[in-house]
Amino acid sequence: MRKRTIADLRDDELAGKRVVVRVDYNVPIEDGRITDDTRITSTLPTLDALLQRGASLVLLAHFGRPKGKPVPEMSLRPVAAHLAGLLEGRTVRFVEDTVGREAQGAASMLRPGDVIVLENTRFLPGEEKNDSALAEQMASLGDVYVNDAFGAAHRAHSSTAGIATVMRAQGKPAVAGLLMDRELQYLGRALAEPARPFVAILGGSKISGKIDVIRSLLPKTDRLLIGGAMANTFFRAMGLATGTSLVEDDRVEMARELLAQAGDKLVIPVDAVVAPRMEAGAPTQTVVREAIPADQSVLDVGPRTVEEFRRVLSTAGTVLWNGPMGVSEIAEFAAGTRGVAEAVAEATGRGATTIIGGGDSAAAVAEMGLESRMSHVSTGGGASLEFLEGRDLPGVSALSEAA
Ligand code: 3PG
Ligand code: MG
Repeated sequence: MRKRTIADLRDDELAGKRVVVRVDYNVPIEDGRITDDTRITSTLPTLDALLQRGASLVLLAHFGRPKGKPVPEMSLRPVAAHLAGLLEGRTVRFVEDTVGREAQGAASMLRPGDVIVLENTRFLPGEEKNDSALAEQMASLGDVYVNDAFGAAHRAHSSTAGIATVMRAQGKPAVAGLLMDRELQYLGRALAEPARPFVAILGGSKISGKIDVIRSLLPKTDRLLIGGAMANTFFRAMGLATGTSLVEDDRVEMARELLAQAGDKLVIPVDAVVAPRMEAGAPTQTVVREAIPADQSVLDVGPRTVEEFRRVLSTAGTVLWNGPMGVSEIAEFAAGTRGVAEAVAEATGRGATTIIGGGDSAAAVAEMGLESRMSHVSTGGGASLEFLEGRDLPGVSALSEAA
């Protein structure tokens, strides 16, 4: 069911109104500098549209995991300053309070076109408990609620699910922002009506974190390509030696069942890059999967695997990728992820719909400068995984449905 979005709001629902917008500005910061502002820039279409239609904005966001109390290093102040630089010609003010008197006062003074960013919602003990009294305080900050925080939509918190429920009970709109809508459209269409063949690529270190995604995607996809350390557990299930590689012993049986059930739909790497240690400068070798040395670990897929994956991707109509193929943050083990990223970008060029799950794979694609060559790069890591598992996202469920 499609959610109502800001595009469905009438002018009289926005002009002169205060809109509480939940965003996911949980961006990486190093030495006080934001190293990747994608999550901020991705919300600009929503913020611009609301401002142009005469609204003023109250932004709610979390940062890090301060666990219900103020942690100065997790203040949203630097994030607000960054946003101010992006929203030129607008007044963006940071308020060092979230729902108290200062926040309510600042919200009540807003004029059309003004923006305030309130302090980290997770400084409040009620937020992660989805406390309803806190949700009511948040709801009292505005006339309309917009959720554009896809990355936090898998959390049932006061600023995601709770506030939407309160707003709707008060007869006020609670709708999706443009980023939220775009995420749900891309991921939703991939699951419901993918152009075929539908190829999924899953990587990352553990099967245990991805098992529900594998199970949910297997019946929907035409091919499911496996990379990352997760492949080692499949190697073990196939009776291959895995040296000193990371293997989840307690998942070997599960991997064996999946192999039996999936037949050749599941594509396992045919070769690997191995090294004695997972560190920059370690001596590497490329070996076929039948010849993994006893004293070495698999740290990337090999070139024949990349070729095989490229061949499968060359006819794909839809590609969904989540999780790197190797330890891509170390140059020696990044070739597999790079090769697959390039093959996915080529698929976009041939007209396939290509979707990159958030988190590590999105970071790898950004690092390689290939973002613009993908149909959609998700801003949600955990959220996109849960969506692909077929689970309900509480932050989405709580919003109004489109007419
Ligand atoms: C994220 O960065 O994954 C989202 O902002 C959600 O954060 P969380 O995992 O701390 O809930
Ligand atoms: Mg997370």
